[in-house]
Amino acid sequence: MTEVKPVFKPNKEFAKTARIKNMCEYQALQDAAMEDYEGFWGSYAKEKIDWIEPFTNVLDESNTPFVKWFEGGKLNVAAQCIDRHLSSRKNKAAIIFEGDRGDKQIITYLELYYNVNRFSNLLKNEFGVKKGDRVVIYMPMIPEAAYAMLACARIGAIHSIVFGGFSAEALRDRIADADAKVVITADGAFRKDKPYMLKPVVDEALNGETPVQKVLVVERNGEDVTWTAGRDYSYNELIKHQAPTCDAEVMDAEDPLFLLYTSGSTGKPKGVQHNSAGYILWAQMTMEWVFDVKENDTYWCTADVGWITGHTYIVYGPLAMGATTVMFEGVPTYPDAGRPWKMVEEYKINQFYTAPTAIRVLHKSGEDEPAKYDLSSLKVLGTVGEPIDPPAWKWYYEAVGGSKCAIVDTYWQTETGGHIVSPLPGATPIKPACATFPLPGIMAEILDPQTGEKVEAGEGGYMCVTRPWPSMIRGIWGDPERFVKSYFGDVKKDGKPVYFTGDGAIYDTEGYITITGRTDDVINVSGHRMGTAEVEAAIKKHPNVAEVAVVGKPHEIKGEGIFAYVVLKSDKGVADEVEEVKAINNVIKKEIGNIALCDDIVFAPGLPKTRSGKIMRRILRSIAKGETITQDISTLEDPSVVEKIEKMVKA
Ligand code: PRX
Repeated sequence: MTEVKPVFKPNKEFAKTARIKNMCEYQALQDAAMEDYEGFWGSYAKEKIDWIEPFTNVLDESNTPFVKWFEGGKLNVAAQCIDRHLSSRKNKAAIIFEGDRGDKQIITYLELYYNVNRFSNLLKNEFGVKKGDRVVIYMPMIPEAAYAMLACARIGAIHSIVFGGFSAEALRDRIADADAKVVITADGAFRKDKPYMLKPVVDEALNGETPVQKVLVVERNGEDVTWTAGRDYSYNELIKHQAPTCDAEVMDAEDPLFLLYTSGSTGKPKGVQHNSAGYILWAQMTMEWVFDVKENDTYWCTADVGWITGHTYIVYGPLAMGATTVMFEGVPTYPDAGRPWKMVEEYKINQFYTAPTAIRVLHKSGEDEPAKYDLSSLKVLGTVGEPIDPPAWKWYYEAVGGSKCAIVDTYWQTETGGHIVSPLPGATPIKPACATFPLPGIMAEILDPQTGEKVEAGEGGYMCVTRPWPSMIRGIWGDPERFVKSYFGDVKKDGKPVYFTGDGAIYDTEGYITITGRTDDVINVSGHRMGTAEVEAAIKKHPNVAEVAVVGKPHEIKGEGIFAYVVLKSDKGVADEVEEVKAINNVIKKEIGNIALCDDIVFAPGLPKTRSGKIMRRILRSIAKGETITQDISTLEDPSVVEKIEKMVKA
């Protein structure tokens, strides 16, 4: 069934000066890309990137899916983000930082240039970091996190940021997989006016065998940390002695820029690799098109740099286009749910970009807060990371946006590098909770997985991209086979494998795209991807656990919560359920981190399996949702187990 949704037209005043002003302009761009794909991308690449040497070929698909964009071109991504702005924007704010406790810093492009150059010299001269080396960044949301990223880019090192909420074990695995020789961290930071720690987690992660030789520690909260002589160094000390300029390494268009680990449907996280030119080109173009940031605007994305949104839309995209980007250390509900709106008023924010989870929290805990502040500076509101529900959308549109701002529901993933399906704020008539249309140049289509044909309106299908685009994933670090299998195995169009996102989607009768959610065993908790296999692998480390199956369950705030069915070893009954739940969650905390804690754990007598031993997750998902099981279960190995579990969950 296709639901008919109301349509909200773009604000006319806004559209007048928007980069893409109406759907005719949008269509003209999309047609241009369709007619001459390489010409389209080649001309944007020439216009937008400050090439050290021009590229000689736009796209090489001879070894698809291992494609190459802009071969022969040489550039440096940090120079693209900083150096080229110095002639016209040296005193413009590049980063506005607000700490958890309200402390503030404004960093101009010129200051950013010197800070990043000093950081680059530190990494090169004190730690011997060279082009191609991997550097893990495990940092809070402070400006030094952005300096660290850009310093790596400047010297050609490949950064791999690990979100600060991951545990020591998760950090250890990512360090090992990337074979990183340096970790950049901080003592800790502040959350809700209290210090929390990061350095001890790094210490634990480096215990035993590790490829890491040096650890750089930025001082943020001033708490005591332990120092390992010869390995740990103070950033605040070393930076004082660094020269303020450092040549930018000349990089090939396809040299790797960063790795970012993300969850897949198997246990081991994937090191998604993004390369230099294509990534920065699309980061910049989507900033311009989707947020339509103007020279004097102030743009704020609330993500964490530990996720792809933080990479592309706090650091690389905004800086590549010479915008002012806000970085916020705190949480949106502290000291109260008016915090973001207070900041919008104070900094006169023009574009605000956040996740549906945050919108739901701010709505629930502070419905009337936006009205207390002057939010008239806002022009564009964005959401990302998970489907947004219509009530949250309505509140965002009306209470925050004053019914005059476009909401750009941006659909994309770690692997896509930047937005792929999204409204354009001056052009697209929007519908609540709808990602609308592919962006110009992106050949995104919903395909039938069996036939590879585009699906009809109202019929669900797989969200695919049928041609390579510049910012697409270039590989999974160290595992080319997994790269091909993960993304190019499931859907073929005209007999050729195409990129499959892992998401289901549906067209309405006007061709609008709504994302319906993952089709694989990946759940989306507060807009963060969590592989069920990853959580299961963690739970299995508990000595009492015989079997486990993890599924997602709708959650009012988080979008999806984690629901685990645990079968304990037969000789160990459940002596104390509360204690057992605690113990299992402790294992998860140790193996992955608090972000993967289960919302529900049920101690099941067994799991519903086919006779060949396959766990019927569909049944478990239905039970978790409280649905009555109507499907035929007579072919299961032990059908009685379904009823038993149903009773337990309902109890
Ligand atoms: O399921 C889709 C969902 O988030 C997944 C990507 O997660 P990650 O790589 O962590 O990146 C999150 C930030 C880009 C997708 O496969 N997703 C992302 N944006 C949307 C979305 N689902 C619905 N609507 C969106 N706008």
